[in-house]
Amino acid sequence: MSFDRSLKIAPSILSADFANFGAEIQAVEAKGADWIHVDVMDGHFVPNITFGPATCAAIRPHIKTVMDVHLMIAPVDPYIEAFAAAGADFITAHVEAGPHIHRTLQAIRATGAKAGLALNPGTPAEAVAPLLDMVDMVCVMTVNPGFGGQKFIHSCVDKVRTLRSLIGDREIHIEIDGGVDPTTAPLVRAAGADVLVAGSAVFRGGSVSNPAPYGENIRAIRASVPS
Ligand code: DX5
Ligand code: ZN
Repeated sequence: MSFDRSLKIAPSILSADFANFGAEIQAVEAKGADWIHVDVMDGHFVPNITFGPATCAAIRPHIKTVMDVHLMIAPVDPYIEAFAAAGADFITAHVEAGPHIHRTLQAIRATGAKAGLALNPGTPAEAVAPLLDMVDMVCVMTVNPGFGGQKFIHSCVDKVRTLRSLIGDREIHIEIDGGVDPTTAPLVRAAGADVLVAGSAVFRGGSVSNPAPYGENIRAIRASVPS
């Protein structure tokens, strides 16, 4: 089978009810989510704190699709085993998180998880060039990481295009994270992205007891993107 570059929508549970992750995950999956994006923040690499491996392990049984763990932490290496043991399918680290990203990617792959590499808005696409044979996904941040609900940074779209041509035929996903909604999704899809993370644009207006808006929001993002 050829590599799957079809559109995948990955709701970020950063915008879900933190007291109800299991039910929130089941609700968005029932309403059409392809992956579940899990934002781990340490209050050091980014100016916000979320949760760690214990929470990831607790929510894992509720995820039937793909558990996509985005580590916004520094250092990364001491915690890779714990996130892999928690059941992450993808573990993404930031190129800016330390001086030894090559080692970090090796360590992620050694656990059996797929390795993702995230780029902040200020980091050029070329930063991934020496690492392309070690990654399964590149995550282009289209906001500065730390918070949901921020405005999409349009100058990042060119970076996605550059990255797509650097990747060529390699089996590497391009993920977009930050400010994705029906107005920005078509721009990044046209530039070559296949995984679209969306927090506020999926969870807005809905809840576990009223999940219909989750489905409408996911369908609106999908419908905005030419197939
Ligand atoms: C930001 C996180 C994102 C965030 C996206 O630091 O990595 O995953 O939840 O949220 P929205 O879609 O609301 O920009
Ligand atoms: Zn994220």
